[in-house]
Amino acid sequence: MHSDSVAVHAGRADLTALGVHALPLDLSSTHPLPDLTRGGESYEAMAGGGYPLPDGGAVYARLWNSTVARFETALAQLEHTSTAVAFGSGMAAMTAAILAHTTMIGRRHVVAVRPLYGGTDHLLATGLLGAEVTFCAEAEVADAIRPDTGLVILETPANPTLDLVDIAAVVAQAGPVPVLVDNTFATPILQNPVTLGATMALHSATKYLGGHGDVVAGVIACGEETAGRLRQVRAVTGGLLHPWGGYLLHRGLTTLPIRVRAQQDNAGRVAAWLSRHPAVARVYYPGLDGDPRGLLRRQMRGPGAMVSVALRGGFEAAGRLTSSTRLFTHAVSLGGVDSLIQHPAALTHRPVAPHARPSADVVRLSVGLEHADDLVADLDQALGATTLAATGRF
Ligand SMILES: Cc1ncc(COP(=O)(O)O)c(C=O)c1O
Repeated sequence: MHSDSVAVHAGRADLTALGVHALPLDLSSTHPLPDLTRGGESYEAMAGGGYPLPDGGAVYARLWNSTVARFETALAQLEHTSTAVAFGSGMAAMTAAILAHTTMIGRRHVVAVRPLYGGTDHLLATGLLGAEVTFCAEAEVADAIRPDTGLVILETPANPTLDLVDIAAVVAQAGPVPVLVDNTFATPILQNPVTLGATMALHSATKYLGGHGDVVAGVIACGEETAGRLRQVRAVTGGLLHPWGGYLLHRGLTTLPIRVRAQQDNAGRVAAWLSRHPAVARVYYPGLDGDPRGLLRRQMRGPGAMVSVALRGGFEAAGRLTSSTRLFTHAVSLGGVDSLIQHPAALTHRPVAPHARPSADVVRLSVGLEHADDLVADLDQALGATTLAATGRF
């Protein structure tokens, strides 16, 4: 089936038997136990990363929730993986992935390809989870791998400069070491890292999967064995997704393909227009440079809807632009139906080490579903204000 059809129907196989058409929302924090023995066995299965026993019940919501499980099934189908595990945020998902591939299996080293989302970079750099990290470029992964390396992490397109990383090439360099790809920017509609050899595809579901700016969540699509360890970490540490979030995400998936394509069309128009604007030194948008490594053609089905720009006027111009737009809301986050603008160095990437931080002239745009003409008009007036203030003339 095409992803448009999967997005609408996946994760709903049990609805007819339940006699309902819309997704059920189970808010129970606890569940009645059928009997002590089977209830206890079900608890043990789930605390160990498995599924509830059919006659043992879900026991407790930290271990299992049917609304969240339906979303996981749907997301896994879109990512072409056997399963998925949802968390209370993208960072909770990243934390679980790191723990499951380091502390939990007696390894302590992680290789991370920069650039990464500032929160991920920060989590790794602090060593908070007990893992030691080597940050490197794509071509340096093989040299960075050690006998105690448990995980390789990369992001493509990367936040915020939209760098494309060759997933298959990193997987080859990693050898037997599992590779996690943060697929937040691409979404499963434009890229499926596990089909390219990665072990896990992680999403900040807060972004395109939810799509409406009203859920904070994370999810990892992967195979059963990896999922078992991730569910175990989730059950033990409590990084679960609330069922209301699972419901909203599952509902959001139905329009994901159509939203991503429409937002991408808008982003293409905005990026092309920006690349001709005199106040803009550089536009970061996959494909605008002719895709010299062929990565857009090889591993993606489109460049997505995130666009970054470097402004000739530097930090000052960036500050003026972000406070002059009207349709683009000045706010962090991304991937929703409405357009957002933010300054990575001052906000999302603030905790990153200065030498690896995005430069101060870069502004990031999350292009939404408004009409492209209105978005361009908004940027035109805002860049006009920027240019006027900087030079005294348009
Ligand atoms: C690429 C990427 N990965 C992970 C995260 C973290 O996700 P969350 O904010 O849902 O914890 C973000 C958040 O902005 C992100 O942009």
